[in-house]
Amino acid sequence: MQYRNARIEDIPGVARLQSMYHVSTISPEDKPDGFVTTLFTEAQFRELIEAEDGLAIACAGDEVIAYAMAASWHYWSAWPLFQHMIEDLPNVVYLGQRLSTENSYQYGPICIRRDYRGTEVLPNLFEFSRRQMAKRYPILITFINTRNPRSFRAHTKKLGLEVIKTFTFNDNLYYELGYDMSKPTPNHTLGPE
Ligand SMILES: CC(C)(COP(=O)(O)OP(=O)(O)OC[C@H]1O[C@@H](n2cnc3c(N)ncnc32)[C@H](O)[C@@H]1OP(=O)(O)O)[C@@H](O)C(=O)NCCC(=O)NCCS
Repeated sequence: MQYRNARIEDIPGVARLQSMYHVSTISPEDKPDGFVTTLFTEAQFRELIEAEDGLAIACAGDEVIAYAMAASWHYWSAWPLFQHMIEDLPNVVYLGQRLSTENSYQYGPICIRRDYRGTEVLPNLFEFSRRQMAKRYPILITFINTRNPRSFRAHTKKLGLEVIKTFTFNDNLYYELGYDMSKPTPNHTLGPE
């Protein structure tokens, strides 16, 4: 398995995965195992790659089988849900720090093709992304829909993210979670940094 940052030519592979598991297009059989909520246009994928270097992927041969996004709050401010989270940052103290757009970034969505779930891809892709973002920010912030129990379990029990609070947006209840970027990911199998 190869972990690397996506290039422009990887966008079609990432977009294919997005359409398989996005809440608006996912099959009824796949939905109980989780879905992604943020929908990226081609231009937003491009900006994520070119301006943020924030699209981590796992490749089996030349197929993209997983992706994880990570970017500054400035990038995410295009989506209303993130505007809501940005406005709330100063109300939250986590790891002894009042959150801001300077000391934190937003990780996610992450998406792993069905046949690679329950494997080392989850901790390894998270660790690959963490190593890069740890150079820029001390705190990771993310959100998970309370109707996505698989993702919640994966992130809290396996990766060690901590619940900071819950919040409601557009009639959905979300967990807001955080992670101390100085901590290596539990159970990853990547080589030394
Ligand atoms: C979320 C996701 C990245 C997690 O990666 P993963 O490889 O599936 O995670 P794992 O299988 O290692 O861990 C999931 C845990 O939840 C458990 N689980 C599975 N289905 C579950 C369910 N319906 N409810 C609660 N827990 C569930 C698994 O058993 C496992 O726990 P265990 O290993 O202790 O038994 C992956 O499932 C995925 O891409 N889902 C579709 C997109 C998505 O939901 N992205 C996240 C958006 S926030």
